[in-house]
Amino acid sequence: MIVTIDGPAGAGKSSISRRLADALGFAFLDTGAMYRAVALLGLRAEVDWENANQLVELARSAIIDLSGQVVLLNGEDVSEEIRTQRVTAVTRFAANNVGVREQLVQQQRTFADALDIVTEGRDQGTLVFPHAECKIYLTASPEERARRRVNDLAARGETVEFQKILQQQTARDQEDMQRDVGPLLKADDAIEVLTDGMSEEDVLQTLIKIVRRCQ
Ligand code: C5P
Repeated sequence: MIVTIDGPAGAGKSSISRRLADALGFAFLDTGAMYRAVALLGLRAEVDWENANQLVELARSAIIDLSGQVVLLNGEDVSEEIRTQRVTAVTRFAANNVGVREQLVQQQRTFADALDIVTEGRDQGTLVFPHAECKIYLTASPEERARRRVNDLAARGETVEFQKILQQQTARDQEDMQRDVGPLLKADDAIEVLTDGMSEEDVLQTLIKIVRRCQ
């Protein structure tokens, strides 16, 4: 069974999706982590961001292992580093790169082969797994999402201004929705869950009920 969870930045998808996968006994695929990992490679290699091919080459040769609790990039645990502001700021170069997307979508489909999975991202229910048995669109108001992001970063020791995060988030939303390939889009057959005012536990229980109905 494939459960897709799509939605905008900061909707709390990553932590909830992982908990949902654990609760169901399914594998978990965090596709945002893949785009972040490719962006980190680009930073480290000091690529010319305007040269699309350099990043495609890096994505092609990288081994991104998401099968455990941590994100391994060529064997190194980069779980923390890919979530820093420094990496977030350049992840759009990976996400907007058609060749990188082709590489990563192929890896996502291979990962899902013969596994029950919860997969989380922007284009999972629309483009990557259009025949998924259960599709969820998880969202929250822009202010609520920005507040959560500020708190997340603070918990990791990064102090950031709310207004700045809100601005960055609006820009990312627009870019995510306007991308030619793999844009953020609610699939026609996805169930929308608006999480404003809900605790993580409430959201988890809601999603478990939705998946049970799909089974
Ligand atoms: O979900 P997360 O914020 O970690 O994703 C990082 C970036 O990767 C997003 O801003 C989005 O542009 C991109 N992304 C994507 N397609 C996906 C998942 C994430 O383009 N399936």
